[in-house]
Amino acid sequence: MSKQEDYKTLLAQVRAMVKDETDAVANMANVAALIQETFHFWWTGFYRVIGEQLVLGPFQGPVACTRIGFGKGVCGTSWKERKTLVVEDVEQFPGHIACSSESRSEIVVPLIKNDEVIGVLDIDSERLATFDQTDKEWLEQIAEVVSGVL
Ligand code: SME
Repeated sequence: MSKQEDYKTLLAQVRAMVKDETDAVANMANVAALIQETFHFWWTGFYRVIGEQLVLGPFQGPVACTRIGFGKGVCGTSWKERKTLVVEDVEQFPGHIACSSESRSEIVVPLIKNDEVIGVLDIDSERLATFDQTDKEWLEQIAEVVSGVL
């Protein structure tokens, strides 16, 4: 299957899965699991905005940093700039926060609800340049669905 087809199936699964569940943690946990079952990335998870920081939420993968400040790292920059960041080589991103030395590339998608960033979806890969415009477009749709049920 092509990446497009994988994402199409994934998006349908995400929609179906969160449809009848109102609990935010349950939804984030299962969405992280669905993404991993489909693509087997190095790390997939959520950070939620709590006060002045992003705080680690449900994820799949190795232990990660628990708190990230506004404008810090790729996640904090995505929060500050309110946009998706696709990083082909994390070593080239000034201020990248290395939760894992295995991570080589990354995509961070903000979760926006009522015009506010309420969290981010963060995915790391152990290979360079894993993420492109296709990932961005589909993951933004997934993030929109998830934001609606948080
Ligand atoms: N690399 C991220 C930190 C989170 S971990 O990748 C799970 C960043 O620079 O914000």
